[in-house]
Amino acid sequence: MNNSRLYLSLFNLNNQIITMSNNHIIEQIIKQADIVKIIGKHVELKKSGNEFKGCCPFHGEKTPSFFVNPEKGFYNCFGCGVKGNALTFLKEYENMTAGEALKELSRQTGIELPKEKIDKNLTYQRKPKQTNNQFGNGWGNNSNNSNNLNNNQQNFIQNFNDEYYQNFPPNVDNDNLSSQDIHENFHHHFDNPSVDNDVNGHFADNFSDNTANFLIEEQSDGSSSLYDLLTQVAIFYQQQLIKNNLAMNYFKTRGLTDNTIADFALGYAPSGWQHLEQAFPRDIDGLKILGLIRTSEKGRDYDLLRNRVIFPIRDNQGQVIGFAGRAMNDDDMPKYVNSSDSPVFHKQQILYGLYEGRQARAKNWLVVEGYMDVISLHQAGVYGAVASMGTAIATNQIDKLLQLNPVLTLSFDGDSAGQKAAWRAMEMGLPVLNDGKELRFLTLPNNHDPDSFVKAHGATAMQQQIHNAISLSQYLFSVLSQKYDVKSAEDRSKFLRDIYDLTKKLPKGTYGWLLREDMKNRLGLGFNKTQKNNFSQDALLNFHNELTPLLLLQMCFLYQPELLINSDSQSQSQSQATPFLLEYILLASGANKVPLFHSNIKKSDLQPIYDVNDENYQPTDDEKKSEYARVERLLKAESELEIRTQQYFQQNPLPNLTWQSVVDEQTLSLIQWIEKVQKNIDDLQTSLTKSNANAFEIINAKAHFIMAGVSAEHQQLLISHWVKFFDELSRREVTDVSSLVTEILAKQLLDWADNQMAIYSKVNVLYVNLFNKRHQAIYEWFQKWLQQKVN
Ligand code: UTP
Ligand code: MN
Repeated sequence: MNNSRLYLSLFNLNNQIITMSNNHIIEQIIKQADIVKIIGKHVELKKSGNEFKGCCPFHGEKTPSFFVNPEKGFYNCFGCGVKGNALTFLKEYENMTAGEALKELSRQTGIELPKEKIDKNLTYQRKPKQTNNQFGNGWGNNSNNSNNLNNNQQNFIQNFNDEYYQNFPPNVDNDNLSSQDIHENFHHHFDNPSVDNDVNGHFADNFSDNTANFLIEEQSDGSSSLYDLLTQVAIFYQQQLIKNNLAMNYFKTRGLTDNTIADFALGYAPSGWQHLEQAFPRDIDGLKILGLIRTSEKGRDYDLLRNRVIFPIRDNQGQVIGFAGRAMNDDDMPKYVNSSDSPVFHKQQILYGLYEGRQARAKNWLVVEGYMDVISLHQAGVYGAVASMGTAIATNQIDKLLQLNPVLTLSFDGDSAGQKAAWRAMEMGLPVLNDGKELRFLTLPNNHDPDSFVKAHGATAMQQQIHNAISLSQYLFSVLSQKYDVKSAEDRSKFLRDIYDLTKKLPKGTYGWLLREDMKNRLGLGFNKTQKNNFSQDALLNFHNELTPLLLLQMCFLYQPELLINSDSQSQSQSQATPFLLEYILLASGANKVPLFHSNIKKSDLQPIYDVNDENYQPTDDEKKSEYARVERLLKAESELEIRTQQYFQQNPLPNLTWQSVVDEQTLSLIQWIEKVQKNIDDLQTSLTKSNANAFEIINAKAHFIMAGVSAEHQQLLISHWVKFFDELSRREVTDVSSLVTEILAKQLLDWADNQMAIYSKVNVLYVNLFNKRHQAIYEWFQKWLQQKVN
């Protein structure tokens, strides 16, 4: 079945492979799930026939149009069109991954999920158990643990002191612990095994005092999962941290608490060159796949991460998939070493802190630069900070965050590297900035990064900063006005060219319009120069999803009813026509008088018999005759056609271009109503102006005045959108939406011409031709108009 195949592929994304033959189990789980209970946790559902009914949790409505059908196991919203089953609900509403959602449903239904088939790519081959002397140093013999500890201990020290330390020049990574430190730590480690268990119990779960044995499940064919290995390595590093005072002190001096250290499973990689090999003698192949063990040119294996504090990187499920190691001394380079990409670790897809943020039920997401920023904010109670893995953040990562919350804040350092990264992130974000999604930009004062800021000023101040982050358009303006001299005409045009190129990357919607408009106004090139600040300040309008073009148009007319006054019906004093009307577009584009006839001529006659411009060509007499005849036929056909066309249209006049033809019934009734009350609106305006009302109070009053006269049904529709529309525009101090109206209308007219063509194509080819030309005229005008708005 199609559905189950979809779930299957989603499931695969989590690196968990389920064979096709198990699809029916997934189907069963979804079928058995108590969808009413699952959705009922979030929505008040009332029984309605065979179904349950409630207010849609996806689009926030007041009258219920959301239905849950327990028999069929699905939900459906007639308002916003969402639909799905228990699995999709958990994914889309509770933000679970497919894997998490299936596990949850399996738990609820008691139907066991098919045992995950382990993907071969995600496993490695363990070395056989009896490995005495295999590595030439007496390592191994794990079967006898009590003896083994002493062997390990001795070998460790021996290896460290003589063989490997000398063979690997220490300047590869300045180990700033002396071998004596290691020696002592090592003793501490094995002599006091009880310390393993005493940090808030967080570390106590998965391992015993016998640290040399890590629990790695082994398949019958001797393979093990890389995930298992990663988990155990993380535990190893955690254990090492507890035993190393310097490392622990490092975290403490950076202000981290035991709880934070445990929450982020922080650890420490000791100084030795082969500590992982010693702790995981059978897992070297796996450690190499993970990039944690490297091989030198001389063919010797050594650990990637040495004498570094460790930040395990976790995926969305909390599974460790890689590590970052930070030098404890700021002079040591590089500051951070990250384990390499591997079959389980894809840096471009991972956001550090996403798992922890979701665990803390973060609502607002913040992209920061560093691991420490994520951790410090979390500790301070500012949840939802995430960092990319030292690489530029990718579009899919921004998209993922924008799905969790439509507003995403990007915080980058004030230095030039940070600002470059911010610009990159902005460019990456544009393609997924659908209407209603918003990127905000935060640069902290005094060269603070989030880590230092939250330590210096606390969580409230940090929240305040996030709250005050600037909008995309403010950000663009501030960056570009540093790049260009906004007083010079040449630079202004380059400035707008950049904006045009950027807005081209945006998905379809009103956002591009708003941004371009806003930039023009910021540059003082707005349509109405005297009203500079009254246009969109910030362009980030969260227009409600349900706002169709026609509803948007209605909102605009409520907002600015004067846009409807056409030049004919206006008094002399207002003779300057408001150029945003239907008529205006038709006149300006010439669509109202495209030629009424067309050369309906045989195709073959359009092709000259020979090239008359070619002086070297000597046509025969026959060819000359044919060519004259062809031209004659053309001229005659055209004049005949012209006469016929004119006669035809005299008898069958074309439909007029009116509001009726381009808008729906509700918009039309609003327009007619506004035209009727226009006079009273003017009076209202006058009295409100006298009363010192501000522009938005006037707008609001006019809208209410108009709304009072429309049908109850229509009124309800308008009010439900009005609040949001009005709030958004007034918050951003936009008083003029004429340009938006023009844009919507132009699009409507194009649709109208398309429709007419379809209707009349059955009647008469002449009509079709006419509409075709009108369409073309409007289209060309519209393109030019858009272009002009930009330049
Ligand atoms: P920062 O230098 O800002 O690091 O680099 P930070 O996280 O604030 O570290 P602290 O506060 O000095 O401990 C930001 C991010 O760039 C990546 C890491 O992901 C780091 O968190 N990075 C930085 C590296 O991958 N390697 C480096 O050498 C430096
Ligand atoms: Mn930092």
